[in-house]
Amino acid sequence: HRVGVLISGRGSNMAALVEASREPQCPYQIVLVASDKPEAPGLAWAAERGVATFAKSPKGIPKAEYEAAIDAALREAGVEAIALAGYMRLLSDDFVGKWRGRVINIHPSLLPKYKGLDTHARAIAAGDAVAGCSVHLVTEELDGGEVLGQAQVPILPGDTVDALAERVLAEEHKLYPRTLSAWLNRRKPVSAA
Ligand code: GRF
Repeated sequence: HRVGVLISGRGSNMAALVEASREPQCPYQIVLVASDKPEAPGLAWAAERGVATFAKSPKGIPKAEYEAAIDAALREAGVEAIALAGYMRLLSDDFVGKWRGRVINIHPSLLPKYKGLDTHARAIAAGDAVAGCSVHLVTEELDGGEVLGQAQVPILPGDTVDALAERVLAEEHKLYPRTLSAWLNRRKPVSAA
């Protein structure tokens, strides 16, 4: 399966996906890493490892035109499924419709809890005993699509947002490749429409 990854920054989940893709039994390859932030550190990381990259800033471009450029880059790379990994831009309903059922995202909470931003601060403030991460299908509803996989970590007494984020992130790096592989193995190969 040919997978494209969209990032906006650090790209540690993208890196985990690329590294897992180099294991012998892995059912996918990362054929493109695209970013809305040309300076995203993850882009340089991918390029250094021989992964094709695409960067385009949305500044001053209508959203439809911007997404058409991303869509074209993905299709030119023969991408069949898209993994969002810290992509901080909302995809339009139109884009989601074109790629329906073929886009997944990783979110740092135990969905359906804490959709949106500041998930760890909200979990700590609520006094939750556990936090975690979810991989889900992307639909028009933010962080609202079917959950494909989750991992939990404890919230410890005195936890800071940073300490909790680090604990969750370590789980994200294991959960995302595992869930992507399992999801793809359940699907028939689909060529880009
Ligand atoms: C991760 O915590 C991910 O769950 C969230 O954004 C963060 C991205 O980190 N969607 P990275 O760019 O993958 O390092």
